[in-house]
Amino acid sequence: MARRSLALLLVAGLALAGVMGQPSELLNQLSAATPGSLTTAIYFPEHPTKQFPAGDVITAVISAHNDASKAYNLTAIVASLNSPMDFSMYIQNFTHQVYFKELPAGQEVSLEYKFRLAPQVPTRDFSVAVHLVYEEMGTPSFYSNTVFNGTVEVVEKPRLIDTEGLFMGAMIIGTTGLIAYWAFSNAGDKFGMKKAAGKKKVRAEAVAFDEDEWVKGTPYDVDKRRRAAAAGKGAKQ
Ligand SMILES: *[C@@H]1O[C@H](CO)[C@@H](O)[C@H](O)[C@H]1NC(C)=O
Ligand SMILES: *[C@@H]1O[C@H](CO)[C@@H](O)[C@H](O)[C@H]1NC(C)=O
Ligand SMILES: *[C@@H]1O[C@H](CO)[C@@H](O)[C@H](O)[C@H]1NC(C)=O
Repeated sequence: MARRSLALLLVAGLALAGVMGQPSELLNQLSAATPGSLTTAIYFPEHPTKQFPAGDVITAVISAHNDASKAYNLTAIVASLNSPMDFSMYIQNFTHQVYFKELPAGQEVSLEYKFRLAPQVPTRDFSVAVHLVYEEMGTPSFYSNTVFNGTVEVVEKPRLIDTEGLFMGAMIIGTTGLIAYWAFSNAGDKFGMKKAAGKKKVRAEAVAFDEDEWVKGTPYDVDKRRRAAAAGKGAKQ
């Protein structure tokens, strides 16, 4: 009887999940369940600090160890968001997920459960309760373990502004770079022109003070040229 009602419930839940995602019936049945012999643990790999952004899909990894001497059929995981002041106030009932996974005696298994926080959930502390529902293989039974019942913080979803900010930053850096390049190449041109002008001046001065100017056409100059030509020939040989 219990087994049949659970199976019916899950089939109805599955049909509902696609349309409305209302697992409140399954949550309602939990009080009828007895705790079995499972040791469970949970962690939130993407939100280890239990800060859940409103509107985000939260992944929970649930591990279950079968401490009993009989096999269990891990049926489903269901969860809810409740008021931290009053647990009987259900803020959001998360869509349950069906597994129908056999867990032999003494074995352990990990299940992934994803639930989506409504975007309109206000940013503050809430209670989250996660339950693992299961049956004894081949026996009408209905067990439930509360895997997690604790406080979480609903936080603001990181905004798209961040990417816009990044883009703006890139634009600013790019523009600054262009301006800097333009300013630098302009200054470089000016500097280069000054340098060239300076060089010309120095050369002109050197010519002006060329000592050969004074001896041009004198016997000393003729002799110097002869010697220079001889040295040139000698260097060439
Ligand atoms: C959530 O489930 C609980 C328990 O079944 C029920 O009392 C409550 O009305 C449901 N809340 C919503 C918002 O569906
Ligand atoms: C677990 O239980 C469900 C519902 O009763 C059933 O459909 C499924 O076949 C069972 N799984 C196994 C492995 O027996
Ligand atoms: C969760 O914990 C609160 C108190 O911390 C308790 O009132 C409530 O009944 C618990 N809910 C479940 C489903 O275990």
